[in-house]
Amino acid sequence: MPKIEFKGHSFEVSKGRNLRKALKAAGLSPHNGAAQQINCKGLGTCGTCAVEVLSGEVSPLNKRERWRLNFPPHQITEGLRLACQIEVQGDLSLRKHSGFWGEKKGD
Ligand code: FES
Repeated sequence: MPKIEFKGHSFEVSKGRNLRKALKAAGLSPHNGAAQQINCKGLGTCGTCAVEVLSGEVSPLNKRERWRLNFPPHQITEGLRLACQIEVQGDLSLRKHSGFWGEKKGD
């Protein structure tokens, strides 16, 4: 089973599991602050579940994720991924950046 490292926690999930659902099931969240309540609940439209995949294997960008990461505050060139659109394919190390959308990679 793939192992996920996020915010100082480490836990295992089934391969193919949706990353946002896996994080929430582990009592964690890919959202910052108010975005924990104000988000699209995994539809791939709000962009607030963006995370950086530091290492590991995830499903490729799908059409909806590519669409959402192509408008502000995100830029697809930043390399962030939407947790709600990712299927876990292997061990992962993740980072959540600051900002409502987790878009502030420089912080
Ligand atoms: S929860 Fe809204 S894009 Fe992922």
